[in-house]
Amino acid sequence: MAKTALLKLDEKEIALPVIVGSEGEKAVDISKLRSDTGYITYDDGFGNTGSCTSSVTYIDGEVGILRYRGYPIEQLAEKSSFVETAYLVINGELPTPEQRSKFSRLLTKHAPLHEGMTRFISSFPRDSHPMAILSAAVNSLGAYYPHLATNNHQQDLEHFDEAAAIAISKVRTITAHTYRVTRGLPLNYPRPNYGYCENFLHLMFSEPYNEYVPTQEVAQALNLFLLLHADHEQNCSTSTVKMVASAGANLFASVAAGVCALWGPLHGGANMAVIEMLKSIHAEGDDGTKFIAAAKSGKGEARLMGFGHRVYKNYDPRAKIIKASFYKALASLGIKDDPLLNIAMKLEECALSDDYFVSRKLYPNVDFYSGLIMRAIGIPENIFTVMFAIGRMPGWIAQWREVAQNPKLKIYRPRQIYTGKTVRDYITPDLRK
Ligand code: CMC
Repeated sequence: MAKTALLKLDEKEIALPVIVGSEGEKAVDISKLRSDTGYITYDDGFGNTGSCTSSVTYIDGEVGILRYRGYPIEQLAEKSSFVETAYLVINGELPTPEQRSKFSRLLTKHAPLHEGMTRFISSFPRDSHPMAILSAAVNSLGAYYPHLATNNHQQDLEHFDEAAAIAISKVRTITAHTYRVTRGLPLNYPRPNYGYCENFLHLMFSEPYNEYVPTQEVAQALNLFLLLHADHEQNCSTSTVKMVASAGANLFASVAAGVCALWGPLHGGANMAVIEMLKSIHAEGDDGTKFIAAAKSGKGEARLMGFGHRVYKNYDPRAKIIKASFYKALASLGIKDDPLLNIAMKLEECALSDDYFVSRKLYPNVDFYSGLIMRAIGIPENIFTVMFAIGRMPGWIAQWREVAQNPKLKIYRPRQIYTGKTVRDYITPDLRK
């Protein structure tokens, strides 16, 4: 017999259905609560609210488990690549060799930008934040490919593979073009014979007189960084994508909204904030000890960026993997000692043995070490969050499809508890004080 939860409200008992996920996660289904009782639930920040069912990613934050489509992140990090993982996240299964080649061909086909888009990117002020340019450029894809962005989910799904490949491939070219034009550098064009990460590094760093050829370790470090960001279930940006999609919006508009949500320093902006924090600790001659003391206030600028997570109450498994790969990438780049890395290690060591952090279960998250990796690769700080967006694109796409394919789709429309003024009469300007 299906399980129910009993809720007693105003002397009335209501039986609420219990839903159990494939990993045993339990939820009380309150979807009929308001119509049956007049009550809604209140959950500031949605920490206890399941907004959907999803089969993309499983996280158990208490023990530090992350799986894409059932595959442990550790196995994917060791054996897969970003492109293969992107396919898995989007389609639910690892690709056969034929499916993998077809996917690669689509990505290659869609790597170049329409010249109009290149001009659009060039038209932004030089000091624009790359995330502002990225969100605008991703949204503009709907203008360049209107037949893929009809705002009719049925029609948009018919062209899903093409739209998904455009988003994944072009986000990389948009990023590199943004980097080049904002520095007054000539643009590079994608090379069809390069892999996804090699092509990105070429687009970013090749010069007309000097082709950039990344070492295998650097390309691998980038691959790993992107793979580890590919999806993270119903986080702030993904929920934003789904919210926008729930109104019927097309893929490009929905993922552009995800880019905007990701920009915030509590979300994707944290990787940039971590480096800024490490640099300022270094500039002050602190080894991290003073900063930790200040961070215990938990507020404002002294917050220990790259620490803590809404879901992980244990070491973020992505942070563990990134940290382990960091030394390999440094060695291949010939970097022997990074003072910021030393400060990061000291911060981690202090925080992991300090009662403030231990009692609140605050551990390093993916952003704590990812900025250091990107810095070593030569990615400028203001591009860090854009790199997160490139990595997260497959997840946003997969989660958009879940919304678009849902036969019982309802527009996402939370309720509220109104706390403003009660009804009052209009006051004419002469009587206002
Ligand atoms: N440094 C110091 N104190 C902290 C920190 C931190 N980084 N994070 C949380 N706390 C404290 C917080 O002050 C609160 O203390 P108290 O109970 O005394 O009021 C307690 O820990 C719980 O924090 P919270 O803000 O209620 O937790 P949350 O789940 O709402 O926030 C978070 C999660 C990620 C926004 C937060 O931990 C944070 O701001 N971390 C720094 C920013 C960061 O690294 N973000 C990247 C997250 S991972 C990438 C991604 O998926 O976006």
